[in-house]
Amino acid sequence: MIDYLDKIPNNVDLGRDRVLQRALEHWQPAYLDWWFDMGPTGSRAYDVYLRTATSVEPDGWAQFDYVKMPEYRWGIFLQPRDPDRQVNFGANKGQPAWQDVPGEFRSPLRRIIVTQGDTEPASVEQQRTLGLSCPSLYDLRNLFQVNVEEGRHLWAMVYLLHRYFGRDGREEAESLLERRSGDADNPRILGAFNEPTPDWLAFFMFTFFTDRDGKFQLCALAESGFDPLARTCRFMLTEEAHHMFVGETGVSRIIRRTCDVMTENKVEDPSDVRALGAIDLETIQKYLNFHYSVTLDLFGGDASSNAASYYTSGLKGRYEETKVGDDHLLHDLDYTILEVVGGTIVERRVPALTALNERLRDDYIHEIEAGVGRWNRNMERAGLAFRLTLPHKGFHRAIGNFAGHFISPEGEVMSEEAWRGRRDLWLPSQSDYAFVQSLMSGSVIEPGKFANWISSPIRGVNQQPIDFEYVRFN
Ligand SMILES: [Fe+2]
Ligand SMILES: [Fe+2]
Repeated sequence: MIDYLDKIPNNVDLGRDRVLQRALEHWQPAYLDWWFDMGPTGSRAYDVYLRTATSVEPDGWAQFDYVKMPEYRWGIFLQPRDPDRQVNFGANKGQPAWQDVPGEFRSPLRRIIVTQGDTEPASVEQQRTLGLSCPSLYDLRNLFQVNVEEGRHLWAMVYLLHRYFGRDGREEAESLLERRSGDADNPRILGAFNEPTPDWLAFFMFTFFTDRDGKFQLCALAESGFDPLARTCRFMLTEEAHHMFVGETGVSRIIRRTCDVMTENKVEDPSDVRALGAIDLETIQKYLNFHYSVTLDLFGGDASSNAASYYTSGLKGRYEETKVGDDHLLHDLDYTILEVVGGTIVERRVPALTALNERLRDDYIHEIEAGVGRWNRNMERAGLAFRLTLPHKGFHRAIGNFAGHFISPEGEVMSEEAWRGRRDLWLPSQSDYAFVQSLMSGSVIEPGKFANWISSPIRGVNQQPIDFEYVRFN
């Protein structure tokens, strides 16, 4: 169980290591300063019906109650240690899992942890003003739940930095509070985390697509031979599941509302849908294209010697590594990646070890396809012909083999000029963003009421009714 009497709630026996405890207690006020500065705008006095982790056991780990967000108990929670756990892949396969950082892997491990840690506060920064245009109290509460948990994910990575990386780790932990999403001089590390999240459609797309990248990265790190990293990522994954739920159901509820408006009024033309105050399916497709493509970039280069060395070293595994039925060394295996050669997209077999980013991206795409299929059931049920589709993997990519190429959503290699000429058909234009934001000019805060562009959820949070007062403004 987690001790909430401690200044920093934890299940890592923090009180036993005074130096570490003092270092983290020193970081804590800097974290709170960051939260007041960059966390949800205007939320300081709100009472929010939030869940707080009370144990790391899979069942009943959370407790729900009203909390003022600055008083949320951010803490350090690791899955319990399995004393028999081993390094399960790479050159060190079969060794007991490392409880300390092996000296030779110190710098790549620090890099991995910092890169993951940086995404957590970044998304809070990206989402900070959305509360001002919430479609309901239910959605506002979900936004804040995601935000406090991303804050806790930052704590999870900062604990590892402080505990295992000495002075370098403490400096990195400070830098994590100094970078800012989208800042020209000191941006967040990864591209998608510097994009704005300007409206609620973007927020739901982000939590569906980009938080799911988080899931796959955490799954790969949960296989790590460095046991404390594996254990912390396992627990983060239980929180991540809720973020993806918010995204998937959020987009689905927008689609359902649009379908209702279309069938009730017998309209199909996007301008008619817009005139009725709903978001047309064509615009939803453009948002999907944007968030999918920028998130695919997060997986990194298609062929990567870094990915190979992380794997061989035992630092970062594959998705569900221990369930894959091969030798977990990958010396003799290959994998298919795509390349643009002379105006066409061709397949190339490369050593499986170098293609691990691509493999993780493919595992991710597989799960995304299932989610988009569930979204499309709304149109099926409504008897509408429109279907959302995923664009080609090479569409609108800035990292990997497709960077610098101009690929249509159908996978056609185009000239830059022709591609740019069609850009606004495929990706949200300034006027699309302006339209979506025009629907979200104010917030809906009456319990049980929802903005016109989104339908109500099927059920409330923690078995509460949909018209429950999820946020009290005071
Ligand atoms: Fe996270
Ligand atoms: Fe998340």
